[in-house]
Amino acid sequence: MTRLVESDIDHISKEIEEYDRKFFQQTGYSMEEIAKIAVGIKNKTTKKKVAAVPVTSGLGIIGGFSFSVAEILRHCGIEAIVTEKSDVAGIQEAYQSDAEIVFMSDDDICAAFCLDKKVQSDNGYATGIGFAAALHMASGEINNKEVLILGAGPVGSAAAAYISDVGGNPVIYDLKYEKSQKLAATLSRSKAISECNELKQYKYMIDASTSGEFISRDDVSHETIIASPGMPIGVKKEVMDIATVIYNPLELGVITMYFHCIRQLEDD
Ligand SMILES: NC(=O)c1ccc[n+]([C@@H]2O[C@H](COP(=O)([O-])OP(=O)(O)OC[C@H]3O[C@@H](n4cnc5c(N)ncnc54)[C@H](O)[C@@H]3O)[C@@H](O)[C@H]2O)c1
Repeated sequence: MTRLVESDIDHISKEIEEYDRKFFQQTGYSMEEIAKIAVGIKNKTTKKKVAAVPVTSGLGIIGGFSFSVAEILRHCGIEAIVTEKSDVAGIQEAYQSDAEIVFMSDDDICAAFCLDKKVQSDNGYATGIGFAAALHMASGEINNKEVLILGAGPVGSAAAAYISDVGGNPVIYDLKYEKSQKLAATLSRSKAISECNELKQYKYMIDASTSGEFISRDDVSHETIIASPGMPIGVKKEVMDIATVIYNPLELGVITMYFHCIRQLEDD
């Protein structure tokens, strides 16, 4: 996972309404609807109060991170607070404020935990399934179609598993071939490739890598759809005018984490 910096997220609260409209144009659904599709929620759900708890360990707090998480959730009509205190005291404050789910992040993990049930959601997993569901909906139909998965870390692995589950054929490419092979071996209709020189042959791609700006205009057509959670974004600016590029640095992953927790709570 690449560590976010403040400038990656400082626009989110101001632009989220407008961004969700663009997301709807690209996929036919809002981010909330895609998150629910990703986790398999079909019915109306009961809303739970959330607290975003700042964490100071490691490299410390990313400016605006907890605020952005709360704003993303409020955008979906969820009651969300940022605790005044951080770390353990922040968890206690969340508990005393009757929050039922806490969102926390350190240098390695971003996760949501329910305070009264053994339920959690990992941001890498939620981001992977969220972006894969967005690609699936934007494509209309990926049954038996190849989807190139760039990067076989937690995000790419979750995305590839989702694509396989909905009938697509994940083609896995990681700079480390063993990672691609290991992931492909766990999935139906999947294969690992050791080289990836002809990106243009793939109409559908999920960029879950950590390399920035390696997909250029020659790699895409007007029909290409790229779901791109990777940080920094793997596509060059010029690609945005040609292909459909579904990209946001935090929003869809956070909303999917919330509904992933709700799904587990309601299954209970
Ligand atoms: N947008 C979001 O909401 C969101 C949320 C979580 C993670 N992320 C980002 O998604 C990306 C993936 O996250 P992760 O936790 O799986 O990361 P990771 O570092 O565990 O895995 C990334 C994988 O990509 C591979 N890789 C790097 N460059 C590549 C390239 N050019 N082609 C193919 N493979 C390449 C690496 O070898 C590695 O295995 C990271 O950039 C992370 O910061 C974004």
